[in-house]
Amino acid sequence: MNPARPRRAILQFVLYERIVRPVLFLSDPETAHASAMGVLRALGRGHGLAPAVRRRMIADARPAEAWGIRFPSRLGVAAGFDKDATALWGLYALGFGFVEVGSVSARPWPGNPRPRVFRLPADRALVNRMGLPSQGVAAVVPRLASRPPFPVLVNVAKTADPGLNGDAAVEDICATVAAVLPHCDAVVLNLSCPNTADGRTFEDPAALRELLGAVRRVPGPPRPIAAKLSPDLAPDALAAVVDEAVRGGVRGFVATNTTRSRPGLATPDPPSPGGLSGAPLRTTAVATVRAIRGACDRGCAVVGCGGVSGPDDVREFLDAGADLVEAYTGFIYRGPFFCRKVMKGV
Ligand SMILES: Cc1cc2nc3c(=O)[nH]c(=O)nc-3n(C[C@H](O)[C@H](O)[C@H](O)COP(=O)(O)O)c2cc1C
Repeated sequence: MNPARPRRAILQFVLYERIVRPVLFLSDPETAHASAMGVLRALGRGHGLAPAVRRRMIADARPAEAWGIRFPSRLGVAAGFDKDATALWGLYALGFGFVEVGSVSARPWPGNPRPRVFRLPADRALVNRMGLPSQGVAAVVPRLASRPPFPVLVNVAKTADPGLNGDAAVEDICATVAAVLPHCDAVVLNLSCPNTADGRTFEDPAALRELLGAVRRVPGPPRPIAAKLSPDLAPDALAAVVDEAVRGGVRGFVATNTTRSRPGLATPDPPSPGGLSGAPLRTTAVATVRAIRGACDRGCAVVGCGGVSGPDDVREFLDAGADLVEAYTGFIYRGPFFCRKVMKGV
């Protein structure tokens, strides 16, 4: 083994986990995120530096394939990190194989009042109740048009206006799908967001049938449509939604979104309400991937998401049948060398 490698790994660990992260974690999570996004945007500016940095960062030389699309690495960035596609070139520089942008909504939406993101360091987890803030699809599309040379998935959600229900909700989603189709490699429908005033989601099979019928009629280039699911579905409900989705033309699943539950946390009195992400979510997310893989054929791509922080986590998702994996919270806790650290060990 090259003796420089362990030295470099120790240096990376000390640099981020002992120096940069403690400083970042002094500010509230959204302020820290805005600072990190500023650095990523600087890294991607002019597009010249990013490919050079990426050559040093990329540790996983084995590409993957899903939907007939080549992914330079199986590890991507989960939705929510780059909601408005402002830092794609910076994320490309860090070595990711793809990014899921979004959730993007048709209209700009401010989301919930702050504070709305909380760290649970003892659990390597986050709780968020962002409320789907988005700059709106008109702001996002021009940025997608100059995206880096790796697959970009766009996660689409209903504009989180609680007054937007029923047919209007379906039209709102279809408007966003129509706008992003020419500028992305796949669309991910965020089914776990509420679409009615009483909080029902598109994971309700009748609502899903109506939505997918309308999405199929959206004009534009043919792109795979995937569905992002909640980890909180009971096994029967999961089977029903997967079945309905596949019948409706869905060709992939992202499993999973954050959980409403608070499974065995070390943090006393964890914040609530909100979705929990990170290490405590992994077991449920892997089980969801396994159930989905068991229910659909290989033509359907499965993207594992939830608590990926190291090579063993990636392996667990791949063993359960995932084609690709994504991370958000693990990336926050492990920092800019995340891809090197994770994919070197896979
Ligand atoms: C602050 C925050 C914002 C998020 N925003 C979105 C979002 O807009 N749309 C979405 O589909 N998922 C969103 N997610 C969920 C993530 O994409 C992912 O499904 C979840 O965090 C589990 O992965 P992780 O454990 O690697 O973080 C968000 C997660 C976090 C922590």
